[in-house]
Amino acid sequence: MPYVKVGSIDIATAATRISGPATAMSNGIGLSNMDPLTVSAYRRRSLCSIDQPGVVMSKLPQELEDTQHEFGSKLVVIMVGLPARGKSYLVKKLQRYLTWLQYDTKVFNVGNRRRIASKGDNTNGTSHSHAFFDPQNSAAKTIRDELALESLEELISWLKQGGRVGIHDATNSTRERRKMILNRLESEPNCRVLFIESICTDPVVLAHNLTMKLSSPDYKGVDEATARNDFKKRLENYERSYQTLGEEDEEDGIQYCKLINVGKKVIAYNIQGYLAGQCIFYLMNFNLSPRCIWLTRHGESIDNLVGKIGGDAPLSARGKRYGACLSRFIKYQREENEVLRQKEEELETPINYRRDRTVAVWTSMLTRTKETVEEFDPNEYDIKHIRFLNEIYAGICEGLSYNQIEQLYPEEFESRRENKLFYRYPGMGGESYLDVIQRLNPLIIELERMTSDLVIVTHRVVLRILLGYLMDIDRSKMPEMEVQLHTLYCVEPKPHGTVVRKFKWVEELDWFIEEPVDK
Ligand code: F6P
Repeated sequence: MPYVKVGSIDIATAATRISGPATAMSNGIGLSNMDPLTVSAYRRRSLCSIDQPGVVMSKLPQELEDTQHEFGSKLVVIMVGLPARGKSYLVKKLQRYLTWLQYDTKVFNVGNRRRIASKGDNTNGTSHSHAFFDPQNSAAKTIRDELALESLEELISWLKQGGRVGIHDATNSTRERRKMILNRLESEPNCRVLFIESICTDPVVLAHNLTMKLSSPDYKGVDEATARNDFKKRLENYERSYQTLGEEDEEDGIQYCKLINVGKKVIAYNIQGYLAGQCIFYLMNFNLSPRCIWLTRHGESIDNLVGKIGGDAPLSARGKRYGACLSRFIKYQREENEVLRQKEEELETPINYRRDRTVAVWTSMLTRTKETVEEFDPNEYDIKHIRFLNEIYAGICEGLSYNQIEQLYPEEFESRRENKLFYRYPGMGGESYLDVIQRLNPLIIELERMTSDLVIVTHRVVLRILLGYLMDIDRSKMPEMEVQLHTLYCVEPKPHGTVVRKFKWVEELDWFIEEPVDK
């Protein structure tokens, strides 16, 4: 009986293995060549739903040897909620997170499909004026339902080609619409469905969302007052037929989650499976407070001077100077932050959206990162040394240079060169990039939950992976990202994307100078 990776990503072979014709559907997505009973029965028998890509393996019967990709769960997330409730913001974040965890995730946005279908028709000043969203307008309702179903079909066929999580981004705000979607998904027995409803009653967030909507492509070339008026009427139309998720939906046996005011209150019903649980746990932990996440590698170590990887070497004299300058620079940035805070107070920004005064400092448990923050005063900073932030463990290659690895273990060297993301160093405790991603997962949740500024001092692989998440960097590029020593990144999560700045330590000036960011 062979061991196989569950949910592993082998895009090239997956594409040939997953045929995905309609006939495969009764057997489950993409299992056309298999005896349907064997696969479905086997899948149903599986008690455990943890199938994290690259780190979980199943022992399968011989006849299922080639179907490892099929045993990763497929999840269809159906969004629910009135317009301007932050659904698209939520799904973008969720997509970024799941993709980072190596689940292939794609968003299918019905609004975009509607805009393409309308071919820019500018009747009544907008491509689709409020009348189009009137629940009494049966012709328009038919079109809207059709668009939603077309998006769903696109989502299903994408899952058949190997995707793992498909997100249907639309209002889906009536029971009738949700029933229609569920009816279609009933013929896809191997897809789990999770409804996520976003509810927002916070007037500050609502006003902000509404203003953002005015710059949507729907109102391109429309003056602000007309756009605002039309959008308000569109909202009223939706509110007239809106049915929140509740007992009636529960009768359909679905799993759902209602997020109220950006996860402040969460109602979860019938949640089944690891992946659905991960999605909800992630969404209930983030916040909209303005803050900076500073990230850097440790100062130069004595092993860096001789090109050795791994180990636990102390800093060189130059590395120590970097650490000292880092603490002065962050102190300076804190003072600048205080000015912004005072401005926000003058503007009467509500307390929960103001900058936090405290600054946290996280390092790994290795000497070189601890020494880098030696000048940070624990009376002023909340300093934590966290093992999850340790560098990738190189197993039998610890303490060697890349040249030595190539000479001593040429096959290992070549395997890593071929697929750095999946490659796991041999020897007890040897890790791959995917292993490091999994151990960083709790830190990502914590990082999303925190409202204060944060300084992270870590190592090359960990920094690549954290920036990979924060900057949404493609997994093929992430392991090769240039992250030099003595370079500081500042990441600011904003409502519509992340702003990244990069600062280089200039030794002669003993200060940081901003540089353009290469994405
Ligand atoms: O050389 C410093 C270092 O942090 C090593 O400890 C680590 O093995 C290496 O970088 C990781 O970089 P890469 O994944 O490119 O080999």
